[in-house]
Amino acid sequence: MTCEESAESAAGPEAASPLVRRLRLALDAPRTGSMQAVLALASAPLDWLDAHRGGFLHGDEEALLTDRLHARRRHGLLIGRYAAKCALAALRPDLDPRALAIRPGVLEQPVLSGAGGENLGISLSHAGPVAVAVAYPEACPMGIDLERIRPANVALLTRQTNAAERRLVAARLDAPEAERLTRLWCLKEALSKALRCGLTVPLELLAVGSAEAGPPGLGVTFANFAQYRGLSLAAGDLAAALVLPRPPAVTLAPDAAAWEDFRRALTEAAARGADA
Ligand SMILES: CC(C)(COP(=O)(O)OP(=O)(O)OC[C@H]1O[C@@H](n2cnc3c(N)ncnc32)[C@H](O)[C@@H]1OP(=O)(O)O)[C@@H](O)C(=O)NCCC(=O)NCCS
Repeated sequence: MTCEESAESAAGPEAASPLVRRLRLALDAPRTGSMQAVLALASAPLDWLDAHRGGFLHGDEEALLTDRLHARRRHGLLIGRYAAKCALAALRPDLDPRALAIRPGVLEQPVLSGAGGENLGISLSHAGPVAVAVAYPEACPMGIDLERIRPANVALLTRQTNAAERRLVAARLDAPEAERLTRLWCLKEALSKALRCGLTVPLELLAVGSAEAGPPGLGVTFANFAQYRGLSLAAGDLAAALVLPRPPAVTLAPDAAAWEDFRRALTEAAARGADA
C-alpha cells in the first residue's frame, strides 16, 4: 500500500500523486494506561484512487463500489477509505490494510472488521478529493469532520448554531464569519460521529459550551457532553475538527511541531481541492 508522505515540491503540489500526512496522537488515560491513535489527511484524484485501489481496499469495500454510484460518491468512498487505511497502517504496521474492511453499520457508522482490528475504531470524513480519518483504540472513542468553508453557507450555518456558541467562538477566533461558523459546525458533526448518532439529533444537543484558542487550534468543550473535548483547525478553505474524551479521562500529549506540519498539509490539500 502506498501511503508515502509527500511534501510540496518547489514547483508546487503534484496533482497526480496523493498527498498524505499522518499525525500520531499519544494519549494518556489513568484507567487504561497509554494509548495511541493516528490522524490521517489524504487527497488524491479519483483516477489515482481507482488505479491504486487494489492496494488498500478489502473485497467487501470493493463491493460497495457499484456502477450506480455517482462519481462524487465514488470519490468520497475511495478517498475516505484511503485516508482510513493510511491511519490504520501507521497505527498497526503489522496488519495488511487490505485485510481490514470498513463497512457501514446499521446507523451508517463506519465499522472496522478483520483480524487484528477487533479493538480499533475508525472515524472519517470527506470533502471532494480530500479526506481525514482517525484510527483509535475503541477504549477511547473519537469523531472527525472536514468541511469546505463557503461564505454562501453563512445564513444556513447561522440557523444551525446558537447565539451563545457563536459569541464564544467570535471572542476566541479572529477569523471571517464563514470560517467561525464552519468550524463550529465541524465540531458538532465530529461530536455526532463520536456519539454514533450523526446529525439525526436536535443540533442544540451538540452545542459548544466553552472555547479557548491555543495550540494546536481552537479547543472546545460541549454543553451537554462533558466527557468530550473538540479541537478545531482551519487552513485555506478547509476546516477540520477532532472530538475525543477530555481530561482527566484522556490527556493528549502536546506536539506543537507535528500539529503545525498537519495544518500545513491541510493548506496544501485545500489548494489541491481548489484545482480539482
Ligand atoms: C454522519 C453524518 C453527519 C456525515 O455527514 P456528511 O457531512 O455528509 O459526511 P462526512 O464526509 O463528514 O462523513 C461521512 C462519513 O461519516 C461516517 N458516518 C456516517 N454515519 C455515521 C454515524 N451515525 N456515526 C458515525 N459516523 C458516521 C461514515 O464513515 C461516512 O463515510 P462513508 O459513508 O464514506 O463511510 C451524516 O451522514 C448523518 O447524520 N448520518 C446519520 C444517518 C443516520 O443516522 N441514518 C440512520 C439510518 S437508519
